[in-house]
Amino acid sequence: MAPSAQTLPTSVSDEKYANVKWEELGFGFYRTDNMYVAKCKHGESFQEGSIVPYANFQISPCSAVLNYGQGLYEGLKAYRTEEGRIMLFRPDQNALRLKSGAHRLCMPYPSVDQFVSAVKQVVLANKKWIPPPGRGTLYIRPILFGSGPILGSLPVPEYTFTVFACPVGRFHQDNAGLNLKIEDKFRRAFPSGTGGVKSITNYSPVWITLAEAKAQGFSDVLFLDAATGKNVEELFASNVFIVKGNVVSTPEISGTILPGVTRKSIIELTRDFGYKVEERVVPVEDLLDAEEVFCTGTAAIVTTIASVTFKETK
Ligand code: COI
Repeated sequence: MAPSAQTLPTSVSDEKYANVKWEELGFGFYRTDNMYVAKCKHGESFQEGSIVPYANFQISPCSAVLNYGQGLYEGLKAYRTEEGRIMLFRPDQNALRLKSGAHRLCMPYPSVDQFVSAVKQVVLANKKWIPPPGRGTLYIRPILFGSGPILGSLPVPEYTFTVFACPVGRFHQDNAGLNLKIEDKFRRAFPSGTGGVKSITNYSPVWITLAEAKAQGFSDVLFLDAATGKNVEELFASNVFIVKGNVVSTPEISGTILPGVTRKSIIELTRDFGYKVEERVVPVEDLLDAEEVFCTGTAAIVTTIASVTFKETK
């Protein structure tokens, strides 16, 4: 796609709100009006992309993303305040995480400024889809992927950076807190793998265990480390924290844990509130011995854990 000016499309209406039953919003796909697309050839850098009407992509069946899973995604939210302002939560942090993932997956990446500008353009081009204050958020999904064809050997000839957005409500429906199952069969990540970056390949391989846990009545699963199977790592889509006395602990960033933006923010806030925060190895026993447990994530926000089940122990 040819780089173009940042003019917002005429399809953006002046209506304040789209026709959505905000109370009924879950966390599902909701088609909005516009998205952002930028493309880049091998050996080049991303230039400014453009806002286009939301539409399907045409993509080579031989593309790197379809054949080899070369893709990263990000997730962040825009909020409407009571005063009518639109706020983004730390979008530069998502840009930096995308950069580190792009390095790991051999892809060029947009600069922090390009990333943040693309996110802002998508939010403004879909402004009427931002829920009223307190009734949801606009979830923004940037994706970077190898869109060019590759059969055997590198380089991938083309990359795409795109951003779309959907209005969302709660990700977890369990108002009284999550009932977690500690997963002992499948692992989410392994040392030197891609667990520490937001690769698209980190998610569907563990749907099997999430589906099984949900069928058993659990809300989510908590994964153990692949090397020993003794320490907790993270949930399907959120980081975990345990509280005991004045000490808040969370698994350290070691390459197998996603460096969550909400995780980082909670660590900073918790320290400000006078707690001692430890980023460390967290054995299952420490979790079972904790006074409080919660998880953090963009979709998951900050959510209480009501129960934890490990093998036969609840
Ligand atoms: C997010 O919290 O943004 C995620 O990427 C999790 C996803 C499964 C919704």
